[in-house]
Amino acid sequence: MRIAIAKETRDGEARVAMVPELVEKLTGLGYVVAVEPGAGQHALITDEEYADAGAALDPTASDGADVLVSVQPLDVDRARGLAPGTSTISFLPTNAEAELVTTYRDGRITSYAMELVPRISRAQSMDALSSQALVAGYRSAIVAAGMLRRFFPLNMTAAGTIHPAEVVVLGAGVAGLQAIATAKRLGAVVSAYDVRAAAAEEIASMGAKPIHLDLETLEGAGGYAREMTEDRAARQRELLTPYIAKADALITTAAVPGRPAPMLVTREMVEQMGAGAVVVDLAAETGGNVEGSQPGEVVRIGNAQVWGGRNVPSQMPGPASRLYAQNIVNLLTLMTATDDEGTSTFAPDPEDEIVAGACVTRDGSILHEPTRIALEGTLSEGGGS
Ligand code: NAI
Repeated sequence: MRIAIAKETRDGEARVAMVPELVEKLTGLGYVVAVEPGAGQHALITDEEYADAGAALDPTASDGADVLVSVQPLDVDRARGLAPGTSTISFLPTNAEAELVTTYRDGRITSYAMELVPRISRAQSMDALSSQALVAGYRSAIVAAGMLRRFFPLNMTAAGTIHPAEVVVLGAGVAGLQAIATAKRLGAVVSAYDVRAAAAEEIASMGAKPIHLDLETLEGAGGYAREMTEDRAARQRELLTPYIAKADALITTAAVPGRPAPMLVTREMVEQMGAGAVVVDLAAETGGNVEGSQPGEVVRIGNAQVWGGRNVPSQMPGPASRLYAQNIVNLLTLMTATDDEGTSTFAPDPEDEIVAGACVTRDGSILHEPTRIALEGTLSEGGGS
C-alpha cells in the first residue's frame, strides 16, 4: 500500500497534506509514505524531516500509489497522468472544478472531497472544514488587532485609562467562535450575531455579548443556517447598522452551506464606522459578507480599512497543515481494512456513510448527486435526492 503526498501547485498555497510527526501513524497502518520533494517547503518542513520520520522522498511519488493526498485540488494535467483506479483525497469544490471532476470520471479515478465529509459525530476528527475554520477564525482576530491602531485591551495606567476596543463578529460558526475567543483573550469587548437559535448561548459561552435582533432565527437541515429572503436580509442590515457604526473592528464569518456568502454589510454601513475602523471579511472569496471587500486585498471604504480574506488558513501553514494532516490520518484509518492475518489494504467501504458522503467520482461515474446533476443533468437510478 502506498500513499503519495503531493507538492501543492495552486497559487499561494503554503500548506501540505501530511506532516512528519504523523507519518508514523500511516506507516503503522501498513502504508509506504512517498512525499514529493519540497512538499513541505512553504510550511517550513524540510525533506529531511519527512525522511527522518520514515517517508520516502520521491518526485514520482504518485506512480503506483493507491491514494494521492493533497490540500488543494490537483491541476487537471496532473490528474490526467494518474493511473485508472488511483484514489485522490483533497479539498474539491466541485462547483468550481468541473473540468477536474470530469477528468477524474473519465480517467476512472476515485476522488474524495474533504468538504463533503458528513458533519456527523463520528466524522468530527476528519472534519477539515472545521479544522481550517479554526485557523481562519484565529487569524481574523489577529489581523484585526494588528491593523487597528489602538489597544484591544483596557489599560489602566498612571498616565490614564485607555478603553478597550469594541469588536463585532457576524457569524458564530467554528471560525466566528474562534475569532470571538481570540479577540476576548486580547482583551477586546466583543459582541456577536448569528442567525441560528443555538448561537446566542455559544456566543455567551465564549464571554461575548450576543446581539439580539428582533428577527426570527433561521435554521435549515442539520441545524445549519438557511439562506435569508431579501426582506429578511434588508431588515437584518438595518438592525445591525448601529452596532457596526460604533465598532472599532468588525469581523465577518457568515456562510450558508452550498450558497454564496450572505451580504450582511453594505458600503453605507461601513461608511458609518469611525476613524481608524477595521473590517475583516473572512467570506471575501465566496462573494463576501461585506459589500466591496476583495479577496487578498485591503480596500478603503469610508473611514475603514477592509481586509478581504484569501486562503486564510494557508497564512498559518504549519498548524493548518498539522490539523489537516490529522484529519487525513483519521480518514485513511477508516478507509484501511485489516484481515484476520493482520494484512492491511486500502479498501474504503462504499457503504460507509462517511466514505459515501465524501466520494465524488468512482468507476467512471460521478457519485455526488448535486455535482452529477450540475455536470450531466442526470439523476441516480433511484431518482436522486
Ligand atoms: P459556516 O462556516 O458554514 O458558517 C458560519 C456561520 O455563519 C454559521 O454559524 C451560520 O449560522 C452563520 N450565518 C449564516 N448566515 C448568516 C447571517 N445571515 N447572519 C449571521 N450569521 C449567519 O459554519 P460552521 O463553522 O460550519 O458551523 C455551523 C454550525 O455547524 C455550528 O453550529 C457548528 O457548531 C456546527 N458544526 C457541527 C459539526 C459536527 O457536528 N461535526 C462540525 C462543524 C460545525
